[in-house]
Parts: sequence; structure tokens; C-alpha cells
Amino acid sequence: MSDYRTLPKAEVHIHLEGCFERDDVIRNCKEAGIPLRRPRDELFKAEDLKSFLEMLDWICGTFRTREQLFGTAYKFSQRMATSGVRYADVIVNPTHWPHWSGDIPAMIDALDAGFAAAEQDGNPPVGLCVSLLRTQSEAQSIELVELLSTIRHPRVVALSIDGNEAAAGRTGPRFAEAFRRAAAAGLRRTVHAGESSGPEGIRDALELLGADRIDHGVRAIEDLELVDLLADRQIPLGICPISNVVLGVYPSLEQHPIDLLRKGGVSVSINTDDPALLSTTLEDSYKACAATFAWDDEIIRQLARNSVEASYADPVVKARIMADVAVWQA
Ligand code: ADE
Ligand code: ZN
Repeated sequence: MSDYRTLPKAEVHIHLEGCFERDDVIRNCKEAGIPLRRPRDELFKAEDLKSFLEMLDWICGTFRTREQLFGTAYKFSQRMATSGVRYADVIVNPTHWPHWSGDIPAMIDALDAGFAAAEQDGNPPVGLCVSLLRTQSEAQSIELVELLSTIRHPRVVALSIDGNEAAAGRTGPRFAEAFRRAAAAGLRRTVHAGESSGPEGIRDALELLGADRIDHGVRAIEDLELVDLLADRQIPLGICPISNVVLGVYPSLEQHPIDLLRKGGVSVSINTDDPALLSTTLEDSYKACAATFAWDDEIIRQLARNSVEASYADPVVKARIMADVAVWQA
């Protein structure tokens, strides 16, 4: 059985909010006198995307100090190293963090310090994708982009948008101006679409938000012209197969469209979304997909190449990982 930890790869769709360790959250609660939301064993239990996002607000609300953010960033990088990730783009959504949403520069600074210290200690480089939430207003979205454009923090590589499109309705037009300004400020643009929205959400992400990468995007399979468009434009999809099954987008991995999208010429990569909360790892996600879809080593190498190509790593880092992918064997 293959050990996909040895596969050199990037992770391009993962939320910092989905990487907490239970013991850390419990320690935060003890220190601040916050009652646990559920018994210890069910602390990270959620039924669907809606209750999952509410849980994130609660968990992130236990993080109050700079040291806690520093430690979270440091441990994130260690988690990446353990999975054989050589570069990661991580999404952070300030709206989930009540103690930090009013001081985003301080939040970015604390996280940056943790990522930098981890990299110094031999862990992989990390780029930060600062995220809007689908339910925010146009004014709030523009305010965030103006802030990012003003501070121009070198750790920040992209503007992202996540959250529940089914709850928010069609919001592409609302966020078009923020994404236009992000592009003008030199930020990359990664957009959650085609998870809680159908193909129309992906089309809006491309046409209204100028997305250069789609987070999820799996429901493109419901519109074969869109699949062709994604393939022709080589817009990468950062797919999270285990998350899609756990959060109920598909009933089983067998029914997940990742292999159909791959065969349709779309650049797909395997990612974890919220690995700690969904009890998965990147290496296990590769393993489960390889077994389900009977992928051989060449297909796995291509998926790893796709992940690196889709990432916002700098060209030197990309070239180094690609060279190692070329000689990888299970
Ligand atoms: N934030 C964290 N995980 C998410 C997901 N799967 N979909 C939308 N927003 C998210
Ligand atoms: Zn996500």
C-alpha cells in the first residue's frame, strides 16, 4: 500500500480554522473560563455546512492572544510537513475570529511570525489567502481589500471568499468590485464555488470575480460546457473529496466527480479543506481516492503536479517541488 506522505505536493485548499487540535481548544477554554460547546468527544461535531460554519465561530472565539495565533500557525506548518506538503496556501477568514476581526493587521502579523518561525525550523513555506465570507456586504468586502492593499503584507498572496452560498444566495455581483480591486492590487483570487452552489456559482466566480482558482468547483460536473470551459482555460479546481462526503455534497467517494473532471481535462488537485475537524489527512485523501478510482503512480504524479501548478508559490519553490515529483514512485 502506497505511502502518499512521500509524494512531493502542494496543498491549496485548506482553512486554518479547520486545523485546530482538540487539546489546544480545550486549553483555551480552561484559560478563559469558556464552557465547552459539547462534550470533549463531540467538540468538533457538525451535521452540515451551516452547523460546521457556526462551529468555526465558536472554536475561533477561544483564540484570544498573539501567542495562541503564533502557535496555531506554527502547528499548521508542522501538520503540512507531516503530510509531505512542500508548499501550502492557507485560507484564513477573519470574520470567524471575534477577538481579531477588528485588528486584521495584528492577526496577520501574529500568524506570519508563526509561519516564519516554522519555516526557519525546516517546515514548508506557507502563503496566506485572506478570506471574505459570502454573507458579508459589498462595503465590508471593499474595506477588507483596501486594508490588504494598504498593508501589502508579503505573507498575503490572495483574496479568497468562502462560506455558505446556499444560505447567501447569488452574491457574485456583490463582490465583483472587491475582487476587481484585489486584482488591481496584485493579489491572486481564489473562490469557493460549486460546493453549496451549482455550476452558476462557478460561472459567476470566473466571470464576475475573475477567479484564477476555484475552491471545490465539483458541481461543474452538472454542466458539461462548463467542464470544457474550465479545461480550455486551465482554471484549477482545489478539490476536497473527503470534505465533500463528510459534509454531504456527495453520498460516497464512489459517486464523487473528481475522476470524471480529471478525465474531462480539468486541472484537479486533492486537498483537505478542514482536516482536523473532518478527521482526515492529505495522505489519507490521496490513498482513498487512489483506491476508489484505481489511479496508478503516473496519475498520482499528475495530481501532485496540478497541486503545485495551482498554488501561489513562487516559481523557484514550484520548480524544486516539480523536480522531486518527476522522480517520485510509490
Ligand atoms: N469554511 C471552512 N470550510 C468551508 C467549506 N467547506 N465551505 C465553505 N466555507 C468553509
Ligand atoms: Zn474550503
